[in-house]
Amino acid sequence: MELPPRPKLYDFHGVSMTNYFTDNWDNVQNFKARPDDILIATYPKAGTTWVSYILEMLCFGHSERQNLVPLYERVHFLEMQIPSFPSGVVELNKMSTSPRLIKTHLPVQFIPKSFWEQKCKIVYVARNAKDNAVSYFHFDRMNMAQPEPGDWNSFLQRFKEGKMVFGSWYDHVIGWWEKKQSHSKLLYLFFEDMVEDTGRELDRLCSFLEVSPSAEEKDNVRERVQFDNMKKNNMTNYSTDTVMDFKISPFMRKGKVGDWKNHFTVNQNEQFDEHYQKRMTETDLKFRTTI
Ligand code: PPS
Repeated sequence: MELPPRPKLYDFHGVSMTNYFTDNWDNVQNFKARPDDILIATYPKAGTTWVSYILEMLCFGHSERQNLVPLYERVHFLEMQIPSFPSGVVELNKMSTSPRLIKTHLPVQFIPKSFWEQKCKIVYVARNAKDNAVSYFHFDRMNMAQPEPGDWNSFLQRFKEGKMVFGSWYDHVIGWWEKKQSHSKLLYLFFEDMVEDTGRELDRLCSFLEVSPSAEEKDNVRERVQFDNMKKNNMTNYSTDTVMDFKISPFMRKGKVGDWKNHFTVNQNEQFDEHYQKRMTETDLKFRTTI
């Protein structure tokens, strides 16, 4: 399949976006959420795929379908509208599962209002800025539906300025953190906590979803969602996705906390820290860059 040239970033209501996520805007904004829908919201590269697979198994158990259909066709991407692919909204409207698990990278102010009206459960996953930036850089290198990343130094500069698809990491994680105050059905998870103790975060998800799997079922989920197992699993590792070039970088790349140390120079790190302090002064949201 021939893809058009890589898309360009543009300003969309104050957020950097590409047309692949704004072309279907009216249909996205008018999307009719159902009360039992579960929204999985993240800034790109914060652990969407991981938590999607966990949620799917907690909601539906393990099924044969998971061996046959890629995860991205089981958990559809709400705002996606890439030429030659069915849009996220069309796919979601066809879905009859209860609940529907829905992926989004939208900043909180862009979420269709019916999710709030229907009081849907929302799981947000956030990841520390440094590892998030590194993961995003490698993703933009290998994903032909993303803008050209350029070199690491210029990418990092643009990351700080929020000139990334889905905008500023800072605005995203803070915007969703603040939403937690008014929307009680929002569970805010951290990628670092999931790496540190997957079982503990699994328990938090179970109470949030009000499900009670047996100890054996939980062990089974924990086993299946381990990085190495998801990397080997062709239905979760995106190897069937035609817009990604795995010769450049795998989707399931490292899955670690602290890989930023292999990318940031001392100088980049100092400048990043200085900028970070300024951007994060007003919030009580805290991240760990090592565990
Ligand atoms: S996307 O494209 O925005 O949906 O990507 P997303 O799934 O949010 O993030 C991809 C990063 O998550 C890592 N990942 C995992 N880490 C640990 N354990 C498990 N099971 C796991 N699954 C996905 C994936 O490797 C990407 O991070 P990096 O740092 O690039 O490896």
